[in-house]
Amino acid sequence: MATPESLLSVEGLHVSYGAKEVLRGIDYQVAEREVVAVLGANGSGKSTSLNTISGFVAPSAGRIVFDGTDITGLAGHRIYRLGVVQVSQSRDLFPFLTVEHNLRLGGVIRNRRGIEGRLAQVFEYFPRLRERRTQQARTLSGGEQQMVALGRAVMANPRLLLLDEPSGGLAPQFINEIGTIIQALKDDGATILMVEQNLALAFKVADRFIILRDGTVSDGGFVRTLEGNYDDIVRTIYL
Ligand SMILES: Nc1ncnc2c1ncn2[C@@H]1O[C@H](COP(=O)(O)OP(=O)(O)O)[C@@H](O)[C@H]1O
Ligand SMILES: [Mg+2]
Repeated sequence: MATPESLLSVEGLHVSYGAKEVLRGIDYQVAEREVVAVLGANGSGKSTSLNTISGFVAPSAGRIVFDGTDITGLAGHRIYRLGVVQVSQSRDLFPFLTVEHNLRLGGVIRNRRGIEGRLAQVFEYFPRLRERRTQQARTLSGGEQQMVALGRAVMANPRLLLLDEPSGGLAPQFINEIGTIIQALKDDGATILMVEQNLALAFKVADRFIILRDGTVSDGGFVRTLEGNYDDIVRTIYL
C-alpha cells in the first residue's frame, strides 16, 4: 500500500502485449530521495515496467500513484509534466542538433525559466559535455551520448528519474563515469528508479533493489544487507 512517504507506488500492475501477459501483478514503492534498482533477466519486463509508469504503455489492471496522484492511464506528456522523466534504452537524442541544443530541449517543457542555471549544473556533472557543447550529438561516442540523454533529463528538473539501463552497451570507463554521475545526482537529492543489468553498477548506487521474474516481483531488499555477496541475487535472476 502507498505510504505517505512513498513518492511512487505501483500496485497490482498487469501489462499485456496482445495475448502475452508480461507483468502479472507487481507491487513496489519508491520513497523520496531513494535509488531503487529493477533487476531481472532479458525479457522479464523491466523496460515495460518503466514505460508503464511513463505512460507509454497502458496497463490492463493495477494502479500507479505518483506523489498522491493516480497517474494510471494518463498520457505520457502529462506524466512528464508532473516530473516523471525517463531516459529510455534508445536514448532518443536529436542527432543533428548540438549537445547544448539537445540539453536545452530538456528544459523547454518543464523548467523553462530555470534553463540557464540547470545547464550550468549539467555541465558541472558532465564537464565532458561542456567541452563538446557545440558538437552534433551524432558525432559523440556512445558513452557521451548517454551523458547527453541523462543531462537532458536532468534539465527538466525531474522529481522522479527513470533510467533504463544507463550502462547499456558502454565501455567500462564510461560505466564508471555514469555510476559516478548517478551517485552525484543521488547526493543532490534525486529520486531514481533504475533498470540495470550491470549488478556492480546497480549495487554501487542503489539503496534498494527488486527482481522481476515470471511477471512478478520475485525478490527484493536493501542493498546494504547483501554485504557485497551477490551470488544469491545472480542465481535468483538468471537460474
Ligand atoms: N511493444 C511490444 N510489443 C510486444 N511485445 C513486447 C513489446 N515490448 C516488449 N515486449 C515483450 O515483452 C517482454 C518484456 O520486454 P521488456 O519489458 O522490454 O523486458 P526487459 O526490459 O526486462 O528486457 C519481452 O518478451 C518482449 O519481447
Ligand atoms: Mg529493457
